[in-house]
Amino acid sequence: SREELDDIYAFAVQLGKDAGTMLMEAAQLRTGDSRAIQEQKEHVQKENAVDLVTETDENIEAFIKQQITSRYPSHAFVGEESYSKGASRDYLITPSPTWCVDPLDGTVNYIHLFPMFCVSIAFIHNNKPLIGVINAPFLNQFFSSCAGRGAFLNETQPLPLIRNPVPTMPGKAPSGCVFSCEWGKDRKDVPDGNLHRKVESFMNMAAEIGGRNGRGGMVHGVRCLGSATLDLAYVAMGSFDIWWEGGCWEWDVAAGIAILQEAGGLVTTANPPEDCDTAPIEDVRLGSRLYLAIRPAGPSATETGRQSQ
Ligand code: IPD
Repeated sequence: SREELDDIYAFAVQLGKDAGTMLMEAAQLRTGDSRAIQEQKEHVQKENAVDLVTETDENIEAFIKQQITSRYPSHAFVGEESYSKGASRDYLITPSPTWCVDPLDGTVNYIHLFPMFCVSIAFIHNNKPLIGVINAPFLNQFFSSCAGRGAFLNETQPLPLIRNPVPTMPGKAPSGCVFSCEWGKDRKDVPDGNLHRKVESFMNMAAEIGGRNGRGGMVHGVRCLGSATLDLAYVAMGSFDIWWEGGCWEWDVAAGIAILQEAGGLVTTANPPEDCDTAPIEDVRLGSRLYLAIRPAGPSATETGRQSQ
């Protein structure tokens, strides 16, 4: 019911704040007492040399899980670190009420003290992300949304902040768009890993968006933040026009999807790099590894100083 959802939303917001405080304290502890180098040694590899976990990921996930299971014992819990350890498909999303949590999205950023990292909490029902909370404490940015209640930055500013009336479809992107992508962590193809294939594929997409073959407009920039859920939040904000990644998990995107959809943006599992103009844009299916996000269109061209075509 509406009341139940509002109650879950209030709980998720408080949980995001508490977990963000833990994350901030852990990061400050590292900078404050020179533990940074020590912790760089302490992080542990998961799948491969670039798939990492720290004590902070694990502590925050344990805290969030404990809070959720004592408040909502019947709800399912899917967390990045629990999944890695459990290695069971049972952890993935079912139609039942489910919390999907990345206690620290942007782990590599956190280890290297690049401030693009956050706590990411989503509540999903019938496979639809209904509530999203993303707290990036080093950036003082707190994103939240609940289906039917709007999406906000720092609880007061409705998203998108930056409005542009032209919907930005790849291949038809207006001049001045910013495209964001993530390299991901998959390095299966030894000895070189498959990073080069991803780089190539992203560059192709950037070129399509940027106007190769006379299509698209002049791209203002291509970004790679290192946190998929924050990418989605910036698409919801209108700062990024398009985001694409070809290798993430549910916890990397669930909260960002909830926020972006509530802000009026589009997220789909279509694979546009092959053909930006004709790829079908269907609704998002959680469980895909591949996502394309398109920012919300604003109401009027005069509300923005940005040039559109
Ligand atoms: C990763 C980040 C990264 C993305 C990877 C994710 P983590 O999450 O979101 O930007 O490219 O696919 O796994 O490991 O930092 O929580």
